[in-house]
Amino acid sequence: MAVPTKPKSSPKDFIFKSQIWKSIFRHGKPNTHRNRTLVMLSNVFLHLHPIKVRKSGVALSYTWCMGGATFFLFLVEVITGILLMFYYRPTPQYAYTDIMQLREDVSFGVMRELHRWGAHAMVIAVWLHMYRVFLTGSYKPPREFNWNVGVILLVLTLLLSFTGYLLPWDQLAIWAVTVGSNMARAHPVIGHEGPGSPLVTFVVTILIAVHFWRVRKDGGISGPL
Ligand code: HEM
Repeated sequence: MAVPTKPKSSPKDFIFKSQIWKSIFRHGKPNTHRNRTLVMLSNVFLHLHPIKVRKSGVALSYTWCMGGATFFLFLVEVITGILLMFYYRPTPQYAYTDIMQLREDVSFGVMRELHRWGAHAMVIAVWLHMYRVFLTGSYKPPREFNWNVGVILLVLTLLLSFTGYLLPWDQLAIWAVTVGSNMARAHPVIGHEGPGSPLVTFVVTILIAVHFWRVRKDGGISGPL
């Protein structure tokens, strides 16, 4: 009688079926729905991402990536803004000369240009994002709450942009915004004299987080019906 022989294990099996490999990767190849889900859930770098996305959600022709572009530009503004704070003093005595120095003398004076152009681009991007959301009807239930979060983000973006307009303290800034700044400063909460004015950037950060969270909770980015 023939003695049954043990099937030979290949070098591939030696690695992929080893206890070490299985202790790290707890799922098979991502060739089934279940395994694809497990890949996303069990990977530290991927677990923040949604398990599934609609094709339209990653299609440039659908989203225009304007929400992502707005977020990217917001990050650019925060980073360049912090760097500029090392050189720029927001007082009538120094503001104008500090801006001149930033432009002419300071190494990496390009930061100021990035900050300025980034602000313009963010305002354009946020409008385009809102326009896209409107065109695709993505404000409809269940996304109506996120549309409202978006409206607040739009107002805060414009407000931040307006505060930046003043900073160079040149003739344009002074005369073009005298009326507007008086109105803004009179606002009881977020105005210059109110307790909330330093909080605007902070509030934007929180609302962007809420906005992204809602995109996930509302079933991901909308898709064509
Ligand atoms: C700082 C401003 C904003 C940022 C960073 C932002 C970011 C994003 C991102 C990354 C998405 C994912 C889809 C995409 O990229 O198109 C999104 C979706 C969405 N946003 Fe915004 N957004 C902002 C302002 C607004 C405004 C002004 C509105 C409308 C008034 C709005 C309404 C929405 C809605 C309803 C969705 C879900 C769209 C869908 O499921 O197709 N957002 N946002």
